[in-house]
Amino acid sequence: MPAPDRPAIETRILPADAAGIAQAAAIFARGGLVAFPTETVYGLGADAANATAIAHLYQAKGRPAFNPLIAHVADVAAARRIGRFDATAERLAAAFWPGPLTLVVPQADRCPVADLATAGLDTVAIRVPAHPTARALLAAFGGAVVAPSANISGHVSPTTAAHVAADLSGRIDLILDGGAVDVGVESTIIGCFDEPTLLRPGGVPSEAIEAVLGRPLGRPAAETHASEQPLAPGMLASHYAPRAAVRLDATDIAPGEALLAFGPAPLPGAGQAAAILNLSPTGDPAEAATHLFGYLRSLDAKGARSIAVMPIPNDGLGEAINDRLRRAAAPR
Ligand code: TXA
Ligand code: MG
Repeated sequence: MPAPDRPAIETRILPADAAGIAQAAAIFARGGLVAFPTETVYGLGADAANATAIAHLYQAKGRPAFNPLIAHVADVAAARRIGRFDATAERLAAAFWPGPLTLVVPQADRCPVADLATAGLDTVAIRVPAHPTARALLAAFGGAVVAPSANISGHVSPTTAAHVAADLSGRIDLILDGGAVDVGVESTIIGCFDEPTLLRPGGVPSEAIEAVLGRPLGRPAAETHASEQPLAPGMLASHYAPRAAVRLDATDIAPGEALLAFGPAPLPGAGQAAAILNLSPTGDPAEAATHLFGYLRSLDAKGARSIAVMPIPNDGLGEAINDRLRRAAAPR
C-alpha cells in the first residue's frame, strides 16, 4: 500500500525551454520530482539512482511499489551500463531508439538503478525517448531518470501539461510544459527473453517489431495479465480508468451515454448521445492514438454515466488503443 500522503508542495509549471530544462535537471539532482513530455505521454521523473526520490515518486502517484519503473537514458551506450543487451535487444535498440519502445533486459553488474525502481526483479526496463525536451533533460541531468506516466495510479495517462496538473498539482515540484505529445499511447514493451515477448502493445506497432526480428513475438496468455504477478506488473486488468463506465464495441447508443466515435460512419442513435468526440473521422489509428486519453478525460468531465466506444480495427496503433480501452472497461 502507498504510504500516507506527504504535505502538499508548490508545483511550478514552466515552459520546456533551456531555463526550464536547467531547473528540472537541478530538481532531479536534489531528489525532486519533475513531469516532462515524452513523445508517448508525459512522464513523472526522478533520479533513477536515488531511492528516496523514487519512494516519493511512488507516493505522489499512489502507485503500488511492486510495480517497477522504466529507466530513461540518453542513448544506447547509457542503456548498456544499466542492462545486458543480447543480439535481439541490440537489434531492436538499433531499429527503434530513440523512440516509443521499452526493452526489458537483465540488469547489468552494478546497475545504478535503485532496487525500489525495479521492484526487486533481476531485470530492468529501459527506454531512449525521442522527444526533444526529454532528450535535452537527460543530457542536462547526465544520469538515468525513472519515469512512469505522470498520472495518479490507475487513472488515464496524461498527454498535455494540463492533464498532469489536474492529477499531480501539490504533489510534485515542477511540470515542464512542452505542448501536446505526438504519439498519445505509451511505449511498446518487449521482454528480451529467450523468446522476445510483447509485454505491452504501444507506440511502435508489433508488426514493425516482428518485421525487424523476422519472427512473431511471444504474447503472454491473457490470464497472466489479470493475475497478481503479471509479466509486466503494471499491466493489471483495470487501468486507464475514467470515472464513467466504458462500454466497448458499441453498435448503438443508449440515451444519456457519451460516444467515443471512430471513422466516418455515424452510429445509429448518435443524436441522443450526451456528448460525442470522434478519435479519427478518417479512420486513422495513429490519429486516434493522439486523441485517446484526452478524449476519455473530456467525455468523463461531461459527467456521463457511461462512455460507449465504437469498434476500432486492431492493426497498427489500434492494438495499443484496444489494449488501453479494454483496461478502461475492466471491472474495478
Ligand atoms: O511511454 C512510456 O513508456 C511512458 C513514458 C513516460 O516513457 N512510461 C510509462 O511508464 O508508461 P509506466 O510506469 O506507466 O509503465 C511501465 C510499465 C509497467 O507496466 C511496468 O510494470 C512495466 O513497465 N515494467 C517496468 N519494469 C519492468 C520489468 N523489469 N519487467 C517487466 N515489466 C516492467
Ligand atoms: Mg502508466
